[in-house]
Amino acid sequence: MLRTHTCGELRPLHTGQSVTLCGWVQRTREMGGLTFIDLRDRYGITQLVFNMEKNPGLCAKARELGREYVISASGIVAERSNKNLKIPTGEIEILVSELTVLNPSRVPPFTIEDNSDGGEELRMKYRYLDLRRNPNRKNLEFRHKMAIQARNYLNSLNFIEIETPYLINSTPEGARDFVVPSRMNPGDFYALPQSPQTFKQLLMVAGFDRYYQLVKCFRDEDLRADRQPEFTQIDCEMSFVTEEDILTIFEGLAKHMFKSILNLEIPDFPRMEYNDAMRLYGSDKPDIRFGMTFTEITSHVRGKGFKVFDDAELVAGFCAEGCSGYSRKQLDELTEWVKRPQVGASGLIYMKYNPDGIVKTSVDKFFTTDELKNLINVFQAKPGDLVLILAGKCQHTQEALGALRLEMGRRLNLMDPFNFKPLWITGFPLLEWDDETNRYYAKHHPFTSPKAEDIPLLDTNPGVVRANAYDMVINGVEIGGGSIRIHNKELQKKMLNVLGFTDKLAQEQFGFLMNAFEYGAPPHGGIAFGFDRWCTVFSGGESIRDFIAFPKNNSGRDVMIDSPAPITEAQLKELNIRLV
Ligand code: AMO
Repeated sequence: MLRTHTCGELRPLHTGQSVTLCGWVQRTREMGGLTFIDLRDRYGITQLVFNMEKNPGLCAKARELGREYVISASGIVAERSNKNLKIPTGEIEILVSELTVLNPSRVPPFTIEDNSDGGEELRMKYRYLDLRRNPNRKNLEFRHKMAIQARNYLNSLNFIEIETPYLINSTPEGARDFVVPSRMNPGDFYALPQSPQTFKQLLMVAGFDRYYQLVKCFRDEDLRADRQPEFTQIDCEMSFVTEEDILTIFEGLAKHMFKSILNLEIPDFPRMEYNDAMRLYGSDKPDIRFGMTFTEITSHVRGKGFKVFDDAELVAGFCAEGCSGYSRKQLDELTEWVKRPQVGASGLIYMKYNPDGIVKTSVDKFFTTDELKNLINVFQAKPGDLVLILAGKCQHTQEALGALRLEMGRRLNLMDPFNFKPLWITGFPLLEWDDETNRYYAKHHPFTSPKAEDIPLLDTNPGVVRANAYDMVINGVEIGGGSIRIHNKELQKKMLNVLGFTDKLAQEQFGFLMNAFEYGAPPHGGIAFGFDRWCTVFSGGESIRDFIAFPKNNSGRDVMIDSPAPITEAQLKELNIRLV
């Protein structure tokens, strides 16, 4: 080893020892005849001291060092007279007698400090420098601990980690595939897996019984703070289980993570039906850290002459406690906020229940004072509260109200990131109708089993069929999702038919799976967690990028290696690809 200790290790008990440290020059200070260097490595910072009087040559050499030079320094550990109790090594320093420059450094394009002066794009370009900063280093260490604990829990329950291929055909999970041309099979393409879904099911047919994998998944979809084109799942599958078994085992995993990583004992997770989540929170990933659940008032407000209410499929709202003091300007601004295309409401109706008991609304002229009072009671509002109401098509209004609820939660500071409120969402619909393409899509994926009692409805009213599917949600983030699978060829075929596959197409694309179902496929089910998201939520962060060593930017580019990039003519030719 080039060093005897790390820069985070030495304490007063080491006083008098000869040591050699290696690391990066964080900063150099001169004070009278002394030069101090903060030497940094992954473990911490140790102060080096050079004495001009005792060793002018060495001291001069130290003064030449620039930021981020990599050096090795040998000397004696000494207790500091001027202790810095803010850092673990702050009670000692090294009186250096030997200094070697292992590698000089150009001046870094931004400061390697906790709060860097570098903009996001610049830091992404020099990600290896950005990763030297404590917050990023800590995030990756955190991720590593999360991975160990997830593996510990699953290993202790007889799960085994098995790798599945990255060069496969596309699995329909809803996003676009990244494709890879095959040189040896001209005109054919592999697709990178959006998840190992079909492979983990085949592992169940193979009898592995309890599988998991920390696995990269690839999805060509629009990026956001919680989405990357390549991300990691904790992907799990089990045989001979019911939905209840899966919820129990994986709630166990989550509780183990809470305890081992955050030292938190979390009570049993509440469960909420999908329909209730939509009805009360306008979201299938409700943030239950705060209330403001919705109340439907459609039947109370119809027929009073207000067209917006009369024409609406749903009129609903929620009560924002203590907000009756909102000014006209604030309410106008909220109205503009809900009208943005991302939310898409046509307008916002408010009812102020002033502390003096008077109700003021934006629709006063359509209602009598008694009717308004009655409405206030329906919302169970108290004097001082503000009721916000939206109206329109059912699902659209629920979702817009859901967005408004979250916005009010943010404004009212109700979203403490360290107040963890996990829950399960169950009873998802199996299918989702799409008006544009005029067909059903699988809400989770086509391998999810319908609830047994709803199977006959696949022929008559597929839209109402419920799935044996579930999501785990923490603080409004979908951390994981899964389902009990179909393990019967005929049912799988029927499901694919409902999704618009002909028998021929179904056989072509999923014959491998349906054939496997004919060779003793056990009942099975599973779940996959978004590992990057889980790390982010657990550490109170906002973007999954902060927990990925080399993430892509919002346009899906890696600006450090400048990827994606064109390939040479020769490569294109070899791959039989002609660009148009
Ligand atoms: P699903 O598509 O719900 O299910 O994905 C599981 C979890 O993966 C995370 N996730 C993502 N994280 C970061 N970036 C993305 N682009 C991204 N997309 C999804 C989410 C999500 O809950 N095969 C099924 C699982 C199963 O049925 O067992 C699947 O992949 O946290």
